Amino acid sequence: MNVNQGDEIRLSIPNKPEYVGVVRLTVAAIASRIGFDIEKIEDMKIAVSEACNNAITHGCRCCKEGEYNINFVLTEEKITISVCDEGEGCLLENIKEPNFSKPKEGGLGLFIIKSLMDDVEIKSEKGKGMMIRMIKYLGDDI
Ligand SMILES: Nc1ncnc2c1ncn2[C@@H]1O[C@H](COP(=O)(O)OP(=O)(O)OP(=O)(O)O)[C@@H](O)[C@H]1O
Ligand SMILES: [Mg+2]
Repeated sequence: MNVNQGDEIRLSIPNKPEYVGVVRLTVAAIASRIGFDIEKIEDMKIAVSEACNNAITHGCRCCKEGEYNINFVLTEEKITISVCDEGEGCLLENIKEPNFSKPKEGGLGLFIIKSLMDDVEIKSEKGKGMMIRMIKYLGDDI
């Protein structure tokens, strides 16, 4: 499977909800090409949609005509997907874990992403946008 080693695909998407479906289709197309099963593909579609929705609703709120970027890096054993916006960003220490004993609407996107992906890294600074990097491994679940 060396053919995919280091291959990189970059997308720049208008920050409009109607294009999230395009991203979902792209995730499915890339992931199935490199051999992910349907279950992992569905997990990745959900996780990437949540990251895109965050980029649109929180990140790019300030820039109506803007766009955000998605990067896919493929190797033999994993796919790394990064969703980056240049919006408002936030202080990571202000992001609370959901409290399931006091459920409220919202605040679940990052929790869902962390549950569905094997590895998640988030970088953000107030005023400097957000980058969320998600990894899914091709092999058996770790
Ligand atoms: N791209 C981003 N730019 C700036 N802030 C963000 C970004 N993504 C997330 N956040 C901050 O992190 C918080 C938690 O995000 P999360 O996706 O978990 O919940 P939510 O978007 O508020 O609600 P939900 O995803 O359940 O509809 C957000 O409320 C927002 O303050
Ligand atoms: Mg969200």
